[in-house]
Amino acid sequence: MCGIIGYIGPREAAPIILNGLRRLEYRGYDSAGIAVLGAGGISIQRAIGKLSNLEAQIQPAMGNPASPVQTGIGHTRWATHGAPSERNAHPHVSADGNVAVVHNGIVENFAELRRELQAEGVVFHSDTDTETIVHLVDRYLRAGQTFEQAAHAAIAQLRGAQAIVLMSAQEPGTLIAARVGNAGGVSIGLGNADGEMFVASDIPGILEHTRRIIFLDSHDVAVVRPGQVQIRRLNGEPVNRTPQIIAWDPVSAEKGEYRHFMQKEIYEQARAITDTLRGRVDFETGAVTLEDLSLSPQEANRLQRVYTVACGTSAHSGLIGKFLIERLARISVEVDYGSEFRYRDPMIGAHCAALGITQSGETADTLAAMQEARQKGALVWSIVNAIGSQAQRTSDGHILMRAGPEIGVASTKAFTTSVVDQYLLACYLGRQRFADSTAGAAHAHDLACLPSLVSRVLEPNPLYDDLANLFHHCEHFLYLGRGINYPVALEGALKLKEISYIHAEGYPAGEMKHGPIALIDEQMPVVCIAVQDVVYDKMISQIEQVKARNGIVIAVATEGDTLIPGKADYVLWVPDAPALLTPVLTAIPLQRLAYHLAIRRGCDVDQPRNLAKSVTVE
Ligand code: AGP
Repeated sequence: MCGIIGYIGPREAAPIILNGLRRLEYRGYDSAGIAVLGAGGISIQRAIGKLSNLEAQIQPAMGNPASPVQTGIGHTRWATHGAPSERNAHPHVSADGNVAVVHNGIVENFAELRRELQAEGVVFHSDTDTETIVHLVDRYLRAGQTFEQAAHAAIAQLRGAQAIVLMSAQEPGTLIAARVGNAGGVSIGLGNADGEMFVASDIPGILEHTRRIIFLDSHDVAVVRPGQVQIRRLNGEPVNRTPQIIAWDPVSAEKGEYRHFMQKEIYEQARAITDTLRGRVDFETGAVTLEDLSLSPQEANRLQRVYTVACGTSAHSGLIGKFLIERLARISVEVDYGSEFRYRDPMIGAHCAALGITQSGETADTLAAMQEARQKGALVWSIVNAIGSQAQRTSDGHILMRAGPEIGVASTKAFTTSVVDQYLLACYLGRQRFADSTAGAAHAHDLACLPSLVSRVLEPNPLYDDLANLFHHCEHFLYLGRGINYPVALEGALKLKEISYIHAEGYPAGEMKHGPIALIDEQMPVVCIAVQDVVYDKMISQIEQVKARNGIVIAVATEGDTLIPGKADYVLWVPDAPALLTPVLTAIPLQRLAYHLAIRRGCDVDQPRNLAKSVTVE
């Protein structure tokens, strides 16, 4: 959703901020703006639409060349209160123009605060909740408080989850950054030289400048000045936060030779899976070590149930994890959408674990579900990609996906790595419960082979272009799978609708005859995942039922299967693999198919309409 970048240092601020915002474009936005402290005070530029519109109106030397330190903030906005428009874009400024704010989240009590401020004579220039923040800060500055005191006093009045960055013309070289709740992160980047400092809602925005990052906790307010950060809790208590060194390679946040981030991320999956296995599996003994999650054999045996909570693609990954954990660790697993979990009074408590799966680690619904589980006394684990995210930091144990930055809005490598992480978790729990090293060694062997099998699914294949040419005009697709590949059908359909805007339904193949079969005619492509596993015969019979109604069958099948070419119209092959790992392979042709169809339809695959990479509102 919204993105924030702040800069303090000797270089010209505007280009650094714009460049950082560009790296956060993937989060989705409808307008953008920038505020830079110049010789005559704060100057603001805002524009609706793409960042290039904002860039076109930036004056050269928006800053103050006479000053040794330049200060600025920028924002990409995803409208919540007030339509997407120039006047509603951030930054917003105080009446005297001396304070500017950028903000992610929702000020829940903004209507009441706005009325209060209007009664004091404040004139509002936007329809946003954000503008109340800057007028509140201004109210306390006019009462004689320092910038820091005024920021604390204002933030303390806000209800709801917020990430806020403020600058003041009275204090050049100072930014105040605050985080309250789960409206996305706020990180402080410690520059390498000249006291340069950065603020960002997401670290890919500043990775090219620094890998030394301080992550703010909820209720932290940081005063950032050249070469220093002072953090206090919202109640005024000082607190120390140690910088973390981020292992992500800045180059991994670049498109490189690829046309789109999504394409790059699809092709990175063999490497990402290798990374997620690295150092965690002893391929001789089969022992699995999860560096940030541990349970004694007694604790593992006391565990009665795992509740997986996640959204979108991560929820589909969780559905696959259910098969893995139930099969390998013999623990019952329930999978819920984060947005539903809290509202069914779940029977979770001690001796249960909640497993939040989230690429961003900031999805509000998933975080709220994890919080609900914590309040009910469960152990809380997470599988996350974004290092330092809220989900990681608030969990009792976590597993990092190690997929590297995922920039494309459509999740790909986070899906496959999170499935592999659940396989690791299942092996780990199984071993703690049953101490069965023979089975462990076999599973470790299967994992060791996985990256090279993934590479094979990524080999060039002209069929994807052919399918895109044949079917780009279709408005409906059906995806069918059974057993552990049923969630892959859901995921394939989600990928297609997200990036190509083709309506797609994922269905458990056995359910087709109970309704969706009515949709099938000679116009309907039906993608059938029919690998050679225990439900293979059943899938063949579903394919026959589709063909009997003149549907078009695109099968995902196991290499060497001689039966399927006679049944399906088109076949996308995957190598033979142990059944529990097939979803990692079968998901990839569906990602590639969606990508090619979307490109053929001329869609913006990295920033599809209406979608945000990290959904920080409920
Ligand atoms: C994936 O392609 C989607 N953009 C979306 O469904 C996503 O998986 C969902 O919003 C959850 O995000 P998270 O993994 O960051 O929590």
